[in-house]
Amino acid sequence: MITADDGFSALKKYIEQTIKIQCNNYKEDYIKRRLLSRMRSTSTATYPDYLRYLHEHPPELENLRNALTINVTEFFRDAEVYDLLKKEVLPALFHGRKTIRIWCAGCSTGEEPYSIAMILHDIIAADKSLSAQITATDIDEVVLKKAKDGIYSEKAMGKLSAAQIQRHFTKLPDGNYQVKPHLQELIRFRPHDLMSGLPPAKFLDLITCRNVTIYFTEKQKDDLARMFHAALVPGGYYVMGKTEYLGREVEGLFTPINSIQKIYTRKD
Ligand SMILES: C[S@@+](CC[C@H](N)C(=O)[O-])C[C@H]1O[C@@H](n2cnc3c(N)ncnc32)[C@H](O)[C@@H]1O
Repeated sequence: MITADDGFSALKKYIEQTIKIQCNNYKEDYIKRRLLSRMRSTSTATYPDYLRYLHEHPPELENLRNALTINVTEFFRDAEVYDLLKKEVLPALFHGRKTIRIWCAGCSTGEEPYSIAMILHDIIAADKSLSAQITATDIDEVVLKKAKDGIYSEKAMGKLSAAQIQRHFTKLPDGNYQVKPHLQELIRFRPHDLMSGLPPAKFLDLITCRNVTIYFTEKQKDDLARMFHAALVPGGYYVMGKTEYLGREVEGLFTPINSIQKIYTRKD
């Protein structure tokens, strides 16, 4: 049980000095939740114990860094990927098909599915006979609630143009921005654990699962790729994070469309 004077400040100072993450940029509660998950994994009971563990096991610093940035996301993260989605992937999917189904797996606070929804909205506005549905899932119900609410700080709006903000968001009296219903209507947010082995939907045309699998073992990553392969329609697309890769055992299931931006299609 962690008490009030519990060595949290000393640990925070150490984190700021070593992994250069400014803890004060985050809510204290968030930092504590993440630390707790690492403390469970390292079987340490108190903050001083964990600090000692960090001193004695330097590789744990990388795990902690990943744990602290685990929910990090942003609108149009890796702009080139969204450019390809807009110019190649989505037009190809709508070719000869009126409606498409997308699964955004590990969606965190929603910036990824809302970015895709912004692109879809433009395509659908230009041809009213088209439609799309995004299922956006995450294991963490705290971030999922934020995603559903669709309320973002001015800082989070950084990569969006003034035109995008005006079109897709309402400025609230407190200075935050809320996603407009026309984007929210394209997305269903659902809790889902990628380790469960079952997709939340089938016959999908596009799956994005980006920057999610840092903690997964090679076997878990391979199982995930097999699940995605089974959930996609023939020729469906799979988009990974830029630093993620397909393991040897499963790379034969997909054809690379763009190996730098990690865009693949399902092989039959
Ligand atoms: C770094 S964020 C990535 C957000 C977004 N995909 C992006 O690239 O910007 C990783 C997300 O994966 C989620 N996640 C981690 N393990 C998961 C699991 N087993 N099942 C579902 N989501 C998971 C985390 O809760 C977190 O919100």
